[in-house]
Amino acid sequence: MADHDLLNQVWTNIIGNSIKFSMDGGIINVSIKQDIKYVIVRISDTGIGISSEDQKRIFERFFKADRSHSRKYGGSGMGLAIVKQIISLHQGDIRVESEPGQGTTFFVTLPIITSIE
Ligand SMILES: Nc1ncnc2c1ncn2[C@@H]1O[C@H](COP(=O)(O)OP(=O)(O)O)[C@@H](O)[C@H]1O
Ligand SMILES: [Mg+2]
Repeated sequence: MADHDLLNQVWTNIIGNSIKFSMDGGIINVSIKQDIKYVIVRISDTGIGISSEDQKRIFERFFKADRSHSRKYGGSGMGLAIVKQIISLHQGDIRVESEPGQGTTFFVTLPIITSIE
């Protein structure tokens, strides 16, 4: 069970970032895996990547990685902070793996909740 509009914001924010931080000809991959308790949505891109230092901060409000370049991409730095809030409202989790110059992968884990528990 989930809030349709809120989860819509999650996917549009993450995929929007993947598009924004990729070059022409980049590849974005979306896949979903499910077990008994969770669904895991994996969104990966072949874009600019995020340094390990910045990976720790991207879910903070108004945080934008790499100040010297961030102006050319625009945006408020609020997207992932909102994403994180929405996922935690759903008792889920979000995780990032990234390599500068190689690309970025986000893993969103959401519990499968059956009616009333
Ligand atoms: N797919 C991605 N590839 C590279 N950097 C990313 C990606 N997603 C997020 N980031 C980094 O995390 C920061 C925060 O993202 P977000 O909260 O959506 O803010 P915004 O998109 O407004 O800059 C971005 O400014 C960018 O530095
Ligand atoms: Mg964004």
